[in-house]
Amino acid sequence: MKFINIAGAALALCLGAVTAQAEQYRIGLITPPPHEWTKTATAIAERIKAETEGRVDILVFPSGQLGNEAQMLQQLQTGALDFAFLTLGELANRDESYGIFLAPYIVDGPEGARELLKGEVAGQLLSGAGKFGLQGLAWGMAGMREIVMRGNAASVADLKGKKVRTVPFAQELDFWTRLGAAPTPMPLPALYDAFANGQIDGMQIDFEGTWNSKYYANAGSIIHSNHMMFPMISVASGRKWQTMSEEDRAIVSKAMTEEVDAMVGRYAGIDATYLAELQGTNVPIIEADRAFFGAAVDDWYASWRERTPLLVELEAEAAALAQ
Ligand code: BEZ
Repeated sequence: MKFINIAGAALALCLGAVTAQAEQYRIGLITPPPHEWTKTATAIAERIKAETEGRVDILVFPSGQLGNEAQMLQQLQTGALDFAFLTLGELANRDESYGIFLAPYIVDGPEGARELLKGEVAGQLLSGAGKFGLQGLAWGMAGMREIVMRGNAASVADLKGKKVRTVPFAQELDFWTRLGAAPTPMPLPALYDAFANGQIDGMQIDFEGTWNSKYYANAGSIIHSNHMMFPMISVASGRKWQTMSEEDRAIVSKAMTEEVDAMVGRYAGIDATYLAELQGTNVPIIEADRAFFGAAVDDWYASWRERTPLLVELEAEAAALAQ
């Protein structure tokens, strides 16, 4: 009898050891270590490790170390990568509705963007990530989009014919084509060199990157336009998600939702802080609003309401929030 008890206790100990064993996961993102997305991913990994008592141990791979977003998406689909923070470029290339948040002046700043990302349309698109083999976890964003040019750019006429770096979204390319510029899709990690050596004349970017990655060092002017929001989607590999226990999935979901929203809430301050830093340089900062871009904004809406009818719903949500 005693023998049986000892054996039972040993078995229970072994099982305990197996279930308590940490599994290592990976989260990939294209932003460099000082970027707010990377800092947030690191904080989330620490929180999840603590709350799962080490069962879910997520290693953070910044700066596109695991590949560009197209490669990361593939890895997520096969289960070779577990989590990622993605811009919407790759999803919008597969379903244009994922690009509707890029509607120019749909919100007037980070606070409005945060609300819109909590709306019904955003919720619908987050749960729709399943069709890409992903589990949508949370909506995040970076700072508002601004324009950094090598030369002087006092008006929209100065953008004509200029090679302006964008993310490869049809919506962004279309906007810049309507302005008469030559949109040049380029991933974030390639941007500094391309701007420094004149391969591009300008870029669409945020103040955070402009300051931290020192794009301003090669700039002749910065247009403070706040013309678009720039969402991020936090996702898990759909395959990997299925292998996690319900308890761990709940912990991961809650941590992602709360921490990513808190990050979004920091962006008004982040934009203001880096704008102040840039105002301290000798690069002129030109103020621009919707009217600066002339007919391009209205023309853009006329076309994209037809191409992506979900945009009309998003506009209605944005209008209700603005009241
Ligand atoms: C960009 O490609 O412009 C970008 C990507 C991630 C975070 C912020 C900006």
